[in-house]
Amino acid sequence: MGEIINVKEIVSRKKENLKLEIEELKSKGIIPKLVVILANNEDASRVYVSKKRKLCKELGILEEEYIFDETVKEQEIEDLLEKLNNDILVHGILVQLPLFKHLDSKKILETISPKKDVDGFHPVNIGKLMQGTGSIVPCTPKGIMTILNEVQPNIEGKEAVVVGRSLIVGRPMSALFLNKGATVTTCHSKTKNLKDHTSKADILVVATGVAHLITEDMVKEGSIVIDVGINRLDGKLIGDVDTENVVKRAKYVTPVPGGVGLTTVYTLMENLVELAKSLALK
Ligand code: GUN
Repeated sequence: MGEIINVKEIVSRKKENLKLEIEELKSKGIIPKLVVILANNEDASRVYVSKKRKLCKELGILEEEYIFDETVKEQEIEDLLEKLNNDILVHGILVQLPLFKHLDSKKILETISPKKDVDGFHPVNIGKLMQGTGSIVPCTPKGIMTILNEVQPNIEGKEAVVVGRSLIVGRPMSALFLNKGATVTTCHSKTKNLKDHTSKADILVVATGVAHLITEDMVKEGSIVIDVGINRLDGKLIGDVDTENVVKRAKYVTPVPGGVGLTTVYTLMENLVELAKSLALK
């Protein structure tokens, strides 16, 4: 029988350290500030944005939100981004995804200055991640590395299998694993015989949005299983992993809710503090 990782405890501990870093910045006259842009009608985005907001308050980080309805023109958002890029009091800019269908998200994300790209979605920051030289890395995969660091600090030579190939989770996750010397397999919706891959994984990360896709028979004995999924089923939140049964075979499994989501929001603050520090050096 394995263990459900206590992500809440990990994040609480990390937050205490981050608070000290924020205090130090404040003593130098720098108050980290995040700007969030919301241009969609997704309930999930609203929940996510309100969690970010709450954590900013808790940590003493300034936060401002711009909410647009579907009449917004792309130019309006781009003009706002240019203004924020040039505002020395703003350290991080986050455009919540997805955007309304008529907006070109690629173009909008490229308008954010790479120096204020708190999500690490700008092509310059993605390129640096591929080189292994970047420090602003997308929050969900970076947060997963924080969790792994607690239970399995050395992943060199391990078999890491990522299920999902999104730009937000799957792809940057695979890059981070590769940078740490793991042997990486990236699976996705077109992968044949998913179980053949997942059952070899020492570390399995699942980010598909398919409720309980991963069952006990699909995981390796003694493995670490990280569940990124958040699915609503009969009013309950459940992950992409059948946690209750998978934990019988795996060594560690992250819970849903109260798992990866917590580290994602925390890591955003870590990225913001990092950006505030590097902008302060200019
Ligand atoms: N939508 C879902 N996850 C994310 C995220 O990490 N960042 C942004 N900007 N949008 C998202």
